[in-house]
Amino acid sequence: MANIITRTADGVVDWFNARAPGFMPVYRKHMSEYYAPKNFNIWYIFGVLSIVVLVNQILTGIFLTMHFKPSAAEAFASVEYIMRDVEWGWLIRYMHSTGASLFFIVVYIHMFRGLMYGSYQKPRELVWILGMLIYLVLMAEAFLGYVLPWGQMSFWGAKVIISLFGAIPVIGNGLTEWIMGDYLPSDATLNRFFALHVIALPLVLLLLVVLHIFALHEVGSNNPDGVEIKKGPKGNRWSPTAPADGVPFHPYYTVKDGFYVGGFLIFAAFIVFFAPAMGGWFLEHDNFTEANKLVTPAHIKPVWYYTPYYAMLRVVPHKLSGVLVMFGAIAILFLVPWLDRAKVKSYRYRGLLSKLLLGVFAICFIWLGKIGAGPGTDPVETIIGRFLTAFYFLFFLTMPIWTRIDKTKPVPDRVTTHD
Ligand code: HEM
Repeated sequence: MANIITRTADGVVDWFNARAPGFMPVYRKHMSEYYAPKNFNIWYIFGVLSIVVLVNQILTGIFLTMHFKPSAAEAFASVEYIMRDVEWGWLIRYMHSTGASLFFIVVYIHMFRGLMYGSYQKPRELVWILGMLIYLVLMAEAFLGYVLPWGQMSFWGAKVIISLFGAIPVIGNGLTEWIMGDYLPSDATLNRFFALHVIALPLVLLLLVVLHIFALHEVGSNNPDGVEIKKGPKGNRWSPTAPADGVPFHPYYTVKDGFYVGGFLIFAAFIVFFAPAMGGWFLEHDNFTEANKLVTPAHIKPVWYYTPYYAMLRVVPHKLSGVLVMFGAIAILFLVPWLDRAKVKSYRYRGLLSKLLLGVFAICFIWLGKIGAGPGTDPVETIIGRFLTAFYFLFFLTMPIWTRIDKTKPVPDRVTTHD
């Protein structure tokens, strides 16, 4: 029986290869003959987890679209309908809303891993740039999606964020009106946001993710030691020309990643089933009330993943300067590959100064996030926010100096493992 199955499967593969000979080399290049460093640790699963969440968002999004009504008069009620009357609608919606926050959790960890192991350094600058473009599009995608249920925070969040464009001299007001298609977020705004959220940006996102992975596979993955794996005299046991410290991505990492994906899905299911609103962090309380342009919520604040930048916007007293600081904080991340002048990639082999600054940077980003999520009325917090914002920028602007003067440890010739 097993024999018949194997022969049939081989036959199908041969039939396919004879008609589309271009596919197998692509599969080999990216899977069975993509040699990934054998010393990957847990920080290396977050790229794959990002793909898992992306797929979840697209699949659950398709089913939500079947029942959602993109009009200001019906949107809120249609979401309530999905939650109460559509079979399993509540599950699909919570998978989508939880997925949005999980997306940012895994992407932030993925980015931090990049910073820790110097994965943006030559020759992976393009991988980083494409990653940053993904991050930008992801933020836009999440913002547009958040407006769709037409709750209080959807409406007022949209109003505050779109009004930021009003700070641009000369064209600001016209631009704000053009984006909204009205003087306030309205039916026209909801319609265009729907179109962008369900088709335009997902397509861009998918394309960027494919390019991100292709760009990575051209140069090969970095690893926790930050040394290239192209060393070793006789290749590895799979191929005489392959890097000595590389293992075929499939089956070795597909199996390993599969295990972690399982764990992640259990974690995600726990949130979906037991804490989908996450105490107001994943789904804000004000968004359970329908949008009302005559009632402003007490505290207008964005979802947690934007709050570090929102804090920067708020602590800067002048509106246009605040907007510039906020966008500058994202823009400066693009430059990291050129700001970092360290001779070694991984922080494992960098000095205490680099480790300390990166640690303080992470704390500073989280602290800014906390400030941005608060009411913004505490003057002491505003002052602290200004210091943290200054540190955020100084971390990057002085990077060419401290990465050069900090002592480094000798880097091993080959990757290290603990087996
Ligand atoms: C939808 C979002 C994203 C997806 C699906 C994604 C996917 C992946 C995958 C599958 C890998 C290879 C596995 C791994 O190293 O973890 C990877 C590597 C990488 N990604 Fe992303 N990524 C995303 C966002 C980002 C962002 C926002 C950045 C940074 C700005 C980034 C920077 C990198 C870098 C530098 C590498 C190479 C890491 C190394 O070799 O050490 N990615 N990404």
